[in-house]
Amino acid sequence: MGILTGKVAVVTGGNSGIGLATARRFVEEGAYVFITGRRQAELDKAVAVMGNNARAIAGDISKLEDIQTIAATVKDAKGVVDIIVSNAGFTEQAPLDTLTPEHFDKAFNLMARAPVFLVQKLLPLMESGGSIILVSSAMHLMGIANHTAYAATKAATRSYARTWAAEFKGRGIRVNTLSPGVTDTPILEAQSESGGRDEVVNMYMDMIPLGRLAEAVEIANAAVFLASDQSSYMTGADLMADGGVGQV
Ligand SMILES: NC(=O)c1ccc[n+]([C@@H]2O[C@H](COP(=O)([O-])OP(=O)(O)OC[C@H]3O[C@@H](n4cnc5c(N)ncnc54)[C@H](OP(=O)(O)O)[C@@H]3O)[C@@H](O)[C@H]2O)c1
Repeated sequence: MGILTGKVAVVTGGNSGIGLATARRFVEEGAYVFITGRRQAELDKAVAVMGNNARAIAGDISKLEDIQTIAATVKDAKGVVDIIVSNAGFTEQAPLDTLTPEHFDKAFNLMARAPVFLVQKLLPLMESGGSIILVSSAMHLMGIANHTAYAATKAATRSYARTWAAEFKGRGIRVNTLSPGVTDTPILEAQSESGGRDEVVNMYMDMIPLGRLAEAVEIANAAVFLASDQSSYMTGADLMADGGVGQV
């Protein structure tokens, strides 16, 4: 029997990278998982890999109406949610000299605003024993050039975990951030200014004590820990699965 047997989870950005690896590990541990994302074809592929214990809900999570659709679908299908993983995100480098209001709003709508309303809309379905995981980044405490908006959204996420841990006192709901280091997913291509994945890898490699990128499943394993009772005395905390990049 898996350590998430009988649990119902929602994983945003569950059709790629860390979110997909997390959804897969949750299903392996016995959970039923709703995955969300905008690209229907990628959602369908992910569900095909996971089988009957996964369902896709398409939507742009930066739009409130799509968050409401996600919550309504979960309510109709299962009536409860035990685990929320707020994971959807993107990165583009943007030096302050040329940063646009559009870039800023896109980053904040997706990675600072959406988690708030996702959790708000799903909270009525969550009972005592629930676990909320907010995917942040080692960058929430680092200074990495050209990431003004991205890093600030991840610091906001870290703050939400502290605030909600206090706010949910007495409700038996735990909330923590999970802060990955540089992880080998499609986001690395988007993060590059011009040279693709290799440019980003080269930029970070000297900074990582473990001397390599994370595999998505290594972050997913940390998510399983936070989702399960194995982390039963953790709330308001930040679990950094970062190869040491944010520690030295
Ligand atoms: N990889 C890293 O090095 C790293 C390091 C630290 C933190 N993180 C964080 O980890 C999380 C996952 O990143 P990843 O590396 O797994 O990236 P990824 O493979 O590019 O996945 C990003 C996911 O977010 C979804 N998404 C993006 N915009 C969306 C929108 N507007 N509405 C709904 N879904 C949206 C994408 O699905 P669709 O495109 O289909 O919408 C996709 O499933 C992000 O929050 C990222 O900031 C990553």
